Amino acid sequence: MQKPNANREKIIELLEHAGGVTEDSVREVHEQTGIPEADIWGTGLFYTLLREPGQRIRLCDGLTCQMFGADSLAMELTEAGKAVERVSCLGQCDLAPASLDEAMELVTYAKHKTAISPPNELAMNLAGEVDLTYSALKKVKEMSPEDVIAALESSGLQGRGGAGFPAHFKWTSLRQQAETERYVICNADEAEPGTFKDRELILRQAHKMLEGLAIAAHVIEAKEIYIYIRGEYTNEYRAIERALEDSKAALQEFEFTIVKGHGAYICGEETALLESLEGKRGMPRLKPPYPTESGFRGKPSLIHNVETIACVPSIIHRGGDWFRSLGKTEAGSKLYCISGHVVAPGVYELPLGVSLDELVAAAGGYVGNPIAFSPGGASSGFLPIAERGLPLDYKHLADAGSMLGSAGVVVINDTVDMAKAAAWQLEFFERESCGQCAPCRIGTQYIRRQVDQFIQLGDPVTLAMTADVGWEMEEGSICGLGMVAAKPLESARKHFPDAFKTRD
Ligand SMILES: Cc1cc2nc3c(=O)[nH]c(=O)nc-3n(C[C@H](O)[C@H](O)[C@H](O)COP(=O)(O)O)c2cc1C
Ligand code: SF4
Repeated sequence: MQKPNANREKIIELLEHAGGVTEDSVREVHEQTGIPEADIWGTGLFYTLLREPGQRIRLCDGLTCQMFGADSLAMELTEAGKAVERVSCLGQCDLAPASLDEAMELVTYAKHKTAISPPNELAMNLAGEVDLTYSALKKVKEMSPEDVIAALESSGLQGRGGAGFPAHFKWTSLRQQAETERYVICNADEAEPGTFKDRELILRQAHKMLEGLAIAAHVIEAKEIYIYIRGEYTNEYRAIERALEDSKAALQEFEFTIVKGHGAYICGEETALLESLEGKRGMPRLKPPYPTESGFRGKPSLIHNVETIACVPSIIHRGGDWFRSLGKTEAGSKLYCISGHVVAPGVYELPLGVSLDELVAAAGGYVGNPIAFSPGGASSGFLPIAERGLPLDYKHLADAGSMLGSAGVVVINDTVDMAKAAAWQLEFFERESCGQCAPCRIGTQYIRRQVDQFIQLGDPVTLAMTADVGWEMEEGSICGLGMVAAKPLESARKHFPDAFKTRD
């Protein structure tokens, strides 16, 4: 029986300390918590970093890593006698092909370093000096919560985690809840192939994130702040620990907890993240209710992406109108990740709404003859290079049938087979589906298999049903993963029909 004081929220951490999911560790965690062993197995096996404990190299299978030879690298490592596990994404597309060694430290075979924007006057200013004064937090304490929210509203700040939802609506909703136990949660799970901006923000400007979180907690009257960070971000985890240590005095009235993810992309979806925080499998909840009403532990919770929350201190310092004016077609500056066939892959802060050409110019130019790009991670599918002048913002990309998502832009040149590019993205969704909705669980497998067959046999008949299955997935899935999982294939077929014609 579950012990009266059992802390379900701790079981994932306990399994990690016990070395992953094994018969011994599951029994040990059961003895400590009283939670049934079957339940512990079920939870633990959901998380790839807890499965199959043992020493091995984790090699990234994301789109950019595949474009830069992940398959041949895997073969070389295996032939050299190394144990290799292929993983969905390591958040290191700018350093492709990337892997983690047996101690979970980053190994990269790229010949260049990550690039970032030079020091600037924009909101994140990644290369700028670190500000330890926490003066925006001090200023907020002199303001009314309504004035802080009004500044957010005039800034036009939209959530940078993908959906682009206006931030001030969530803060207002939190303040309207009758329940006084409230939480602030920072989503640092960043695991969509193409995306690595939160990584650089945490490594270079973690205090902006911490200050933004403290401001949010002050305004919504929460004491506890959780930062959920993907398990592969070891250096970034340490950077947050250090930043917390350095800002102890400024943040003393808040209780910060850093929680590590364990290798499940779906835990970036906010309700899956909540399930994971509560010590369960990271399976998205049905919405409504939204987390602002019923979130962590069933209490109102404000969940923001790292970049969204890190924009807040500069909005307080310099005003909402200033932030809004930084954008080109929409409000604010934006961290764009760029990888693939460009000279200097990295994270560039630019006005929201720059075109691909402008972004690539910041990254030193195209390499080879570009034919396509993926503007916002795997979920955004592909656009033809003819769209290089389109503003990379929420509205224009949605109108073009794509999305800005987390602004993980990947440029693809004519050395890449677009059918293969689609297959790599589909494999990502297949692996990362949490499995609770049949259309997503079965559809992601089916579509990937059919594309693989097409690549092997060269017969387009293998793709005859994929559009129908894609429609079922879009209509019948609980969360955004299933809704967009067919997009890489649909968009590649639409814009690159020649890649899907009969092959010899
Ligand atoms: C499959 C899936 C994965 C997601 N992964 C992330 C993620 O890694 N980081 C993130 O901030 N938001 C992610 N999101 C969006 C979150 O659900 C949520 O909208 C976001 O954290 C809210 O913060 P924001 O308003 O600051 O964008 C994901 C959504 C989906 C559907
Ligand atoms: S759509 Fe896919 S990932 Fe999302 S809840 Fe359903 S099965 Fe899970």
